[in-house]
Amino acid sequence: MSSSLFSPITIRKTSFSNRVVVSPLCMYSAIGGVAQPFHFSHLSTFARGGAGLVFAEATAVSAAGRITPQCLGIWNKEQADALAPIAKFISDAGSVPGIQLAHAGRKASTAPPYDGGKPLAKDHPDAWSVVGPTSTPVANGFAVPHELSIDEIFALVEQFADAADRAIYAGFKVIEIHGAHGYLINSFLSPITNTRTDEYGGSLEHRMRFALEVTRATRKRIGESVPLFFRISAIDNIDSGWSMDDSVVLCNALANEGVDIVDCSSGGIAGAPRFRAADDGKPLGKALGREQGFQVPFAERIKAETPLGSMAVGVIVEPDYAESIVNSGQADFVALGRELMYNPFWPLHAAEHLGANTENNLWPKQYAWAIVRRQEILNSRAAEGGTPPES
Ligand SMILES: Cc1cc2nc3c(=O)[nH]c(=O)nc-3n(C[C@H](O)[C@H](O)[C@H](O)COP(=O)(O)O)c2cc1C
Repeated sequence: MSSSLFSPITIRKTSFSNRVVVSPLCMYSAIGGVAQPFHFSHLSTFARGGAGLVFAEATAVSAAGRITPQCLGIWNKEQADALAPIAKFISDAGSVPGIQLAHAGRKASTAPPYDGGKPLAKDHPDAWSVVGPTSTPVANGFAVPHELSIDEIFALVEQFADAADRAIYAGFKVIEIHGAHGYLINSFLSPITNTRTDEYGGSLEHRMRFALEVTRATRKRIGESVPLFFRISAIDNIDSGWSMDDSVVLCNALANEGVDIVDCSSGGIAGAPRFRAADDGKPLGKALGREQGFQVPFAERIKAETPLGSMAVGVIVEPDYAESIVNSGQADFVALGRELMYNPFWPLHAAEHLGANTENNLWPKQYAWAIVRRQEILNSRAAEGGTPPES
């Protein structure tokens, strides 16, 4: 049987064996921004699990752009060199290595979630000064940002472009610009956070300028053959905030700057993004971000109303549901985060469940022959009235 989720797709010069994507997932486990054995194990497992595209987490374009002191970075060669074996393993395993380039802006200098996730106190030895479009902090308890000057904005554009260069050098085949979740680019886009009065603030056109300049500079550096993704927060989910209509305008402009796929997340401008809406220790109740596919309509609309492809993300759990997103043309790619952390071999099992074309066998060759034998054993035991096959 054919499956849309497990059908190949080519974007520019890169072919993906299927549409399952490992969403960028911060692990807060780097030292000085440098990837550790943990990152190799974490990311390589997803490639063995059969995902078509494996994104490395939000990787900071500068030291000040990290969310936490433990975030990955790509502002120097040592960091790029440490990522190279990871990208190579993913490629060799038949998947595509991608990396998300990020600057945390006003939301930088915090503790990792496993240590409470709060902003680091000003006198904390690891704390640093944060920057933003204005000097308004994220919320009470967050650091007061330094309002970026025009020259500093130019320098940031170059930092993204330099980081993209290093990512290509490290062997990544897809670049994603992180324009979501209240981090620096998102904070320039949203009218909630960008009240500047110069050419980088105010009107929608002005607020989009930084995002478009980063994208233009990144595309210029990576050349024409590399797929470029851009993650948006499709809506702020706050009255008078960034809207879906704004996202359509932005994505049409991003299309002119060489973006290929829009990764459609939401929220985060004034606190946690929507996927963490219930991540506050309180009972889930009817919290936003709980329903399967709650952000899929954003991906569907971007695909319908712009020349760009889209990626759906957010509580996508069941293989049949993921299949329906691609099959119905709502999105070109389906990204999973927590479900893949729970089960990194989800794609292999989903392909089996969907009866996807086995010619395009996703199992690593080191496993495939043994897995076939396992199935034969289960089948023959079942035929003799023994234990039924498990799959
Ligand atoms: C542990 C963790 C780390 C995350 N790190 C990032 C990140 O680095 N960049 C990003 O854009 N989103 C990040 N997210 C959001 C995910 O990429 C994804 O959009 C979100 O978890 C919703 O998908 P899910 O319901 O399949 O987990 C993170 C989420 C989790 C749970």
